[in-house]
Amino acid sequence: MLVLGIESSCDETGVALVELTDVTQTEVPKTSQWPTLLAQALHSQIALHSPYGGVVPELASRDHIQRVVPLAQAVMTQAKKRFSEIEAIAFTKGPGLAGALLVGGGVACALGASLDIPVIGIHHLEGHLLSPFLSKNPPSFPFVALLVSGGHTQLMRVQSVGEYQLLGESIDDAAGEAFDKSAKLLGIDYPGGRELSELAQTGNPQAYPFPRPLLHSKDLNFSFAGLKTSVLTQCKKLGAQLNSERANLAASTQAAIVEVLVKKSLKALDQTGLSTLVIAGGVGANKALRESLNKACRVVGASVYYPEIEFCTDNGAMIAMAGAMRIQAKRELPTKNYSFEVNPRWPLDQINL
Ligand code: KG4
Ligand code: ZN
Repeated sequence: MLVLGIESSCDETGVALVELTDVTQTEVPKTSQWPTLLAQALHSQIALHSPYGGVVPELASRDHIQRVVPLAQAVMTQAKKRFSEIEAIAFTKGPGLAGALLVGGGVACALGASLDIPVIGIHHLEGHLLSPFLSKNPPSFPFVALLVSGGHTQLMRVQSVGEYQLLGESIDDAAGEAFDKSAKLLGIDYPGGRELSELAQTGNPQAYPFPRPLLHSKDLNFSFAGLKTSVLTQCKKLGAQLNSERANLAASTQAAIVEVLVKKSLKALDQTGLSTLVIAGGVGANKALRESLNKACRVVGASVYYPEIEFCTDNGAMIAMAGAMRIQAKRELPTKNYSFEVNPRWPLDQINL
């Protein structure tokens, strides 16, 4: 069965096609039976929003409208399949920018109605946390997931597809936001996280002792808003010397974020008694975070899984995969309904199968 996925929640238009072998199987799927990715295409709007220093929602929606159909055509050509062979369409229903979400939902429902196939609204963060299943070595349920994107920092207990329990989250800025806001202070363009981490490679992570908020709190919550204030204060203090200290500032900022993420993830494993950790979301591409998590998990005997780098940031493959895994878990296709809605604010632990 072919499932098409459409992602349009923010500043990336992503479309992908996955294949699902048997929906009626009675056994829980084994590794080799997870859906497989046939083709995917992505358009990033970074260049479009860059002059404004952040995402402009109206421009995002307009660009999604222009990109989504050509991307879908490219995916079908790449996979050597016809639209008439698709049996279900998954789209990002939320959270995200309302106008941007409406584009993906509108196209998914129009295409679904014309092909007379069901359409499934997917939670964007569910897409992220199931993205490691796109890799050759996927995790096994249950696991703890650390979701670190531009808009969210959450620790979830994932029992199975659709069974998510929130363990802790950021009470203010997300980790990606902390990377991006600090990057901006160092003169790096939006989004900034990846470039800051590249700059950090030549810096000393101990140069500036930036705060690690809530590091020792018993709960699994995070707080990153104070970090950018400390970086700003330090930048002001440095004045004319700022330029020569950029790498040290980047390395010290990254070290503060990474230490908190690693310690809290290990605390979540300890509190849940689980020994599998899954990292997902844009910040999951961060090399220093991966190195530090690998080391820490080795020490406690836990396994850690990441999506492929290309599937850390927003993409259509994770939405197609989440749609296909939901169909697989329910062992049936949803009913056809083309009157859709989007959900710009939508807690992940409020969804079920
Ligand atoms: O998951 P994502 O693509 O979008 C949201 O759903 O928010 O995450 C984007 C975030 C941005 O804040 C970006 O700066 C950050 O992920 N990011 C990184 C890296 N690559 C992307 N942060 C740190 N290091 C990276 N290598
Ligand atoms: Zn995302």
